[in-house]
Amino acid sequence: MAFTAFWIEKNDKTFTRSIIERDEADLPAGDVMIEVKYSSLNYKDALSATGNPGVTRNFPHTPGIDAAGFVLESSTSDFKPGDEVIVIGFDLGMNTPGGFAERIRVPADWVIRCPEGLNLHSSMLLGTAGFTAAECIDKLTNAGMTPASGPVLVTGATGGVGSVAVKLLAHLGYEVAAVTGKPEQHEFLNSLGAASILSREDAAAGVGKPLLAERWGGVVDTVGGDILFNAVKSLKYGCSLAACGLVAGADFQANVLPFLLRNVNLLGVDSVELPLAEKSRIWTRLAQEWQVDLSELEESLTLDTLSDGIDRILAGQMVGRGVVKL
Ligand SMILES: NC(=O)c1ccc[n+]([C@@H]2O[C@H](COP(=O)([O-])OP(=O)(O)OC[C@H]3O[C@@H](n4cnc5c(N)ncnc54)[C@H](OP(=O)(O)O)[C@@H]3O)[C@@H](O)[C@H]2O)c1
Repeated sequence: MAFTAFWIEKNDKTFTRSIIERDEADLPAGDVMIEVKYSSLNYKDALSATGNPGVTRNFPHTPGIDAAGFVLESSTSDFKPGDEVIVIGFDLGMNTPGGFAERIRVPADWVIRCPEGLNLHSSMLLGTAGFTAAECIDKLTNAGMTPASGPVLVTGATGGVGSVAVKLLAHLGYEVAAVTGKPEQHEFLNSLGAASILSREDAAAGVGKPLLAERWGGVVDTVGGDILFNAVKSLKYGCSLAACGLVAGADFQANVLPFLLRNVNLLGVDSVELPLAEKSRIWTRLAQEWQVDLSELEESLTLDTLSDGIDRILAGQMVGRGVVKL
């Protein structure tokens, strides 16, 4: 049966985008075929669509690291036609045809039943970005962060991961300080629950210094680069930073003094290969005690408007979460 898909073709060194008809028979082998109802736009999708070899090597290709929909066919007894399911991460949208299409076929151990409390739409309003924000907060709280630890810094605050982190932390009773490069979005960040706002320049000041004044009870860092290590140097004694992103760069100037003198922790966060049981646990938290109304973050996209969203997320101009309706 035919279905519609977003399609990236490689022509020499350029990558072109179009919308095409594909056939279910073109999909790779897998246990579960899903009728995708919603996907979402993440920074990594834009990297895939523009040929970043660290994300996608094989073209032509359909990106989309997130998908939510109904099971159409399943060769395992874990799922039956009609089940509402979510797939995020693993190889979806990297070198496996992804969620920017009306059909995907994937291994059963990538698939999670949509938890009660979420639905296909709200799960994709979260998507990988929202899931990763929750994973960062989960790691920080497991490392001892509480609202009494002090203000929590969120970098890249208007982006997908950052905006969900601001909203969720404020909902959980934390005082949130947001770093943004978009002065026109200060009011939006305040409405999400940010108590104070720093510019990227503020966050990058003092790069050459070995330590900075103790300020943060925790940090959700979505940007990497020198902003990341400046935040490590500003952690209060014994506190932690969760690092998940690299939009500002993969490298940073660092020294060991914050670890030796302030007992702080730099925690890595990966949502892609996180084992399914852990993914399930965090989805359940998001569906229950961490459930928040994210409607003010939503930008509705379709396959027709996706290309513009890809350009804007690459330029760091996207605000909140792009939800793709198939
Ligand atoms: N580890 C994982 O499993 C995982 C999962 C999801 C995402 N990620 C990574 O997390 C990062 C954020 O993803 P996302 O989907 O939230 O992307 P996004 O929506 O584009 O958000 C990134 C935000 O970072 C800020 N920014 C952009 N360029 C910057 C620069 N040069 N310097 C400083 N800040 C900059 C912008 O916010 P402001 O304008 O407000 O500053 C931008 O909106 C990406 O690197 C992504 O690959 C990793």
